[in-house]
Amino acid sequence: MTYTESDIVPTVERLAGQDVAALTQEQLDGIDQFHAGGPQAVDRLLPGLRLGRGMTALDVGSGLGGPARQIARTTGCDVVGVDITASYVAAAVELTRGAGLADRVTFLHTPLTGLPRADFDAALTMHVQMNVRDKRAFYAGIAARLRPGGRLAVFEVCRTGSTPPPLPLPWSLDGTDSFLPTAGELRRSIQAAGFDLVEWSDDTAWTTAWFADLGRRLATAPPPVSLPALLTDGPTRMLNYAIALTSGTLTVHRGTFTAPGTP
Ligand SMILES: C[S@@+](CC[C@H](N)C(=O)[O-])C[C@H]1O[C@@H](n2cnc3c(N)ncnc32)[C@H](O)[C@@H]1O
Repeated sequence: MTYTESDIVPTVERLAGQDVAALTQEQLDGIDQFHAGGPQAVDRLLPGLRLGRGMTALDVGSGLGGPARQIARTTGCDVVGVDITASYVAAAVELTRGAGLADRVTFLHTPLTGLPRADFDAALTMHVQMNVRDKRAFYAGIAARLRPGGRLAVFEVCRTGSTPPPLPLPWSLDGTDSFLPTAGELRRSIQAAGFDLVEWSDDTAWTTAWFADLGRRLATAPPPVSLPALLTDGPTRMLNYAIALTSGTLTVHRGTFTAPGTP
């Protein structure tokens, strides 16, 4: 089991020496965006999602809720996040209350199968499917919850070949819960789930540049608390991930798709 951290908000407040509601957006971005690329990665997904006021997005594997809150702030839409890690959902709810977004951004501790809705305007997964063995069933579950023609955006980690990346990784401590596809396998799984492809992009170079910039920023002005400090073996996991991207063992791919049916 990889995602075992609990009492996340009290830990953030202890390390930061202040209430989470008092943290700046930049400080929060370093804590609640559990993927490479930070808030800039979410920005890259937004045009494809085509969200606006009055719409509702579904964030599957919403983690601590950083992407969901950013999408709600930026587009004016509502967001529902689902995640199977109870302590992450609890932290996401608390951080959302602190951000004053609780009326528009909600989080549920449930697998997708526990969500009885089929009317979402758009959905996203960011750094989630690496933990999912049956990717076709996972994305079919998302397709079933979108309105006809609804958008799906993914920002996901893939392998390039059979060389295993160094462990531990952000999504897996020992490798037993890591099911990395190649980029082609992931794209085909999503299409086999019923989605039509709109855009497919290798964002590895962009992501490695983001990691390099992050390293420079952390060395120059280390924040009192950041995501790696909250995670079991956090710094090693982040470093191994960055090394695997730089050495060509892993890639990050971004995709946009449309759900079956005419809008
Ligand atoms: C690396 S974190 C990414 C969190 C968030 N998407 C982000 O980018 O900030 C992966 C998250 O996916 C969740 N997760 C893994 N498998 C899942 C599944 N089958 N259904 C829902 N959530 C899942 C984990 O609990 C964890 O919160």
